[in-house]
Amino acid sequence: MNISILGTGNVGSGLAKTFSKTDHVIYLGSRDQATAQAKAKEMNTETTRPITGVTTAEAIDKSKVIFLAVPFDGAIELLKSANVDLTDKIIVDVTNPLTEDFMNLTVGHDTSAAEEIQSAFPGAHVVKAFNTVFAQILHEGPDFGSQNVPVYVASDKECAQSAVMKLVEATGFEAINSGILKNARYLEPMAAMNIQFGYVLGLGTQIAPAWISR
Ligand SMILES: NC(=O)c1ccc[n+]([C@@H]2O[C@H](COP(=O)([O-])OP(=O)(O)OC[C@H]3O[C@@H](n4cnc5c(N)ncnc54)[C@H](OP(=O)(O)O)[C@@H]3O)[C@@H](O)[C@H]2O)c1
Repeated sequence: MNISILGTGNVGSGLAKTFSKTDHVIYLGSRDQATAQAKAKEMNTETTRPITGVTTAEAIDKSKVIFLAVPFDGAIELLKSANVDLTDKIIVDVTNPLTEDFMNLTVGHDTSAAEEIQSAFPGAHVVKAFNTVFAQILHEGPDFGSQNVPVYVASDKECAQSAVMKLVEATGFEAINSGILKNARYLEPMAAMNIQFGYVLGLGTQIAPAWISR
């Protein structure tokens, strides 16, 4: 299957690296094609399967599944400006709606980044996923010994949710069914707490929030 990733930053390149280890065909989309091509070329020296750098519009056009790895405050505008029909596309929202200093959320309680994206593109199927995984873990891989790195997957569209859960499982991360898209209201604050643990309380970025049970 073709998978497109929008954003060539820490998370976009980390997702590209993660999915290049699977059987899927990876397109890395940027606002600037030369940036995407340069990033793909740099990454292709160390990836198993080649990544192709393309424009945002081409990336959306090529794949049914599109990962949104850009700042939330530019995400809706980016998708609109590409001017490509998003009907029935699966948009995997990896964003966290954070202030510039990463210390606060800009939306929450009665909505979430994921729900805002869904209401901007009602014909698309938005799936929240990977927002609680630090980019460094994407780059270094999900091997934490006997522990799994959870990826919480929430959506209102069951078939889109299960398709994304399958993609997650193919990468070695653990897909956790996290219910409806509204639950992004809870997943996004989880990522904010993860940032507090990682950057404020000194635990670093080799951590991930997990549920225990018995
Ligand atoms: N860093 C983490 O550990 C982490 C973990 C989970 C979730 N997230 C979320 O994932 C998203 C990406 O984070 P990141 O750390 O990869 O950020 P980043 O390194 O700053 O990269 C963001 C990329 O988004 C693209 N972009 C598109 N529209 C943009 C705009 N209006 N302004 C700035 N960049 C724009 C840029 O790529 P082009 O120039 O190629 O278009 C840029 O390189 C954010 O929403 C963040 O909250 C981050």
